[in-house]
Amino acid sequence: MNTTHDRYPVPQGFAGPQTVTQEQYEDLYQASITDADAFWAKAAERVDWYRAPTQIQDTCLTNADEFHIRWYADGELNVSVNCLDRHLEKRGDKAALIWESDDPAIPSQRVTYRELHAKVCKMGNALRRLGIARGDRVTIYMPMIVETIVAMLACARIGAVHNVVFGGFAPASIADRVRNCGASAIITADEGRRAGRKIALKANVDAALEMPGMEGVRSVLVVPNTGTPVNMVAERDYWLDRLMERESAECEPERMNAEDPLFILYTSGSTGKPKGMLHTTGGYLVYAAYTHAAIFDIRDSDVFWCTADVGWITGHSYIAYGPLANGATSLIFEGVPSYPDASRFWQVIDKHDVTIFYTAPTAIRALMREGPEPVLRTSRKSLRLLGTVGEPINPEAWRWYHGVVGAGRCPIVDTWWQTETGGILISPLPGATECKPGAASVPFFGIRPALVDVASGTLIEGPGEGNLFIRGSWPGQARSIYGDDRRYYESCFKDYPGMYFTGDSCRRDADGHYWITGRVDDVLNVSGHRIGTAELESALVSHPKVAEAAAVGFAHDIKGQGIYVYVTLKAGHAESDSLRQELVAHMRREIGPIATPDHLQWAPSLPKTRSGKIMRRILRKIAENTVDDLGDITTLADPSVVQALVRERRMA
Ligand code: PRX
Repeated sequence: MNTTHDRYPVPQGFAGPQTVTQEQYEDLYQASITDADAFWAKAAERVDWYRAPTQIQDTCLTNADEFHIRWYADGELNVSVNCLDRHLEKRGDKAALIWESDDPAIPSQRVTYRELHAKVCKMGNALRRLGIARGDRVTIYMPMIVETIVAMLACARIGAVHNVVFGGFAPASIADRVRNCGASAIITADEGRRAGRKIALKANVDAALEMPGMEGVRSVLVVPNTGTPVNMVAERDYWLDRLMERESAECEPERMNAEDPLFILYTSGSTGKPKGMLHTTGGYLVYAAYTHAAIFDIRDSDVFWCTADVGWITGHSYIAYGPLANGATSLIFEGVPSYPDASRFWQVIDKHDVTIFYTAPTAIRALMREGPEPVLRTSRKSLRLLGTVGEPINPEAWRWYHGVVGAGRCPIVDTWWQTETGGILISPLPGATECKPGAASVPFFGIRPALVDVASGTLIEGPGEGNLFIRGSWPGQARSIYGDDRRYYESCFKDYPGMYFTGDSCRRDADGHYWITGRVDDVLNVSGHRIGTAELESALVSHPKVAEAAAVGFAHDIKGQGIYVYVTLKAGHAESDSLRQELVAHMRREIGPIATPDHLQWAPSLPKTRSGKIMRRILRKIAENTVDDLGDITTLADPSVVQALVRERRMA
């Protein structure tokens, strides 16, 4: 089907008190571009400031020495006050969070704004009593439970900078992040739950703390989640519930500058170790709150469910900060879409009358495979809006989501953004934009996408496809890579001064709508999780039997991309199935289950240019099994290497 003719108009009557209509979108977008300072000054009014900002944007994106990004730089505020205290008068008894366990037999929890405020204050006081102060870094390694949100907000309240590490990461990955950000405390739980299994979080933290360079961690705060006994080290490890019991339910918030750091979140780049994206206080909050309100058309009666994990940016902006700043009800889910069965998502929607549901294409594809019955046995009548994030959605999955899950009633917002962008940059607005399956559609207010032609390096005007850049800045933009301003400039701004390079490629159609086509750098997107080929390779070569390794992505029906690795062994080691299993286990241990390769191919040697650079283009083709057209291989140092790999692939 020609996707440009497959259009879904804005449903009739889709209008609430705050809905942005098409006309308003055009006007507001124009205003946001022509007088950006006035636009963002007004947007900042949705946040409560101790001292309202008079300076709006102050950025230099054009040279390495003066590179900086600042928004609202003379403003002062506290994020936890914006997410809690200011709602107490009007919405004190409204549910801030609804928690649903992995195990449907465990009762769900409903936490009001008043209760959440009290918990955050108690935890904030407990952290302060342990000597954690403004500017200190705190790593949060938790399951999806209420205390995780409490921990983030408690840090924000006392001015500590949180660093959430996804609960699926292995000890070595925790240690890397803790060391890089210099965290002095870790907040964790005894265990997490996932699809009926227990995840040994505290044991993983213990293992990470055994690794070199971890002496900076003075306290480990443990939430009793499953009640399983864990190892507790005297004067280092504390049960958080016991500490909180003793504390007052009032905690004086720190008065933060808009540009004080709020959090550091690690994400994969195309080279080296994960980079700690630094987000600050004022601009991030304004942007998260505004995009959440406008793109999800938030109304007071909504129950908003974003299925991401708070270990990723989606959880930060659209489970925690955006919804809570807007006084919304945010649902947090500890489990997975397929447990106990493929109907779980839809049952949770019915159980809690979820009105807005936001998930990843990989989950939609996996559930689509189970057929319509698990969906159709639920009502889903509460739903009024659907969203997707994390990777391109194929039109077939989009139509299934729209027709089966949303019963044809609900618009879909396909939201494109990144850890670096802090919030959504390109998305339909549900009351304004006609949807096209697979298109992220239109830029949010103040966002100026630009496409650069790969071959000529020039800007593309009108329809076309190229590398996606964003001109100028917006308040939610990451300020730096923690501890490495240079790397941020060099990797994202250097080639085209004044524009941020996203690492994605994108097509613009005749209506000016944007279609993201995928990454163009050495970053894979596996089930919506970003992972750098460099990280996969360095995990492999850390194994004593591995001489060299190369990782590439290949198209995968459910995951979007799968992981394909090529391994060259050191002399004296034989290829075997047991060694293959050992290497897969090694990668899981070094990074975590998300690094599990789908294929591991033995490579007597890797195709390299004469200057020694691995030719991934060729490895990708072999992985995709499109070896009839390998392109130009004359620049290879030894072209026969390729033939050997192709032969091996055919035999596999
Ligand atoms: O390739 C794009 C893809 O996910 C990347 C960002 O990953 P991360 O920083 O982990 O953040 C994910 C959640 C915001 C992007 O560079 N991506 C994200 N959303 C979409 C997408 N690709 C296509 N369509 C989307 N809606």
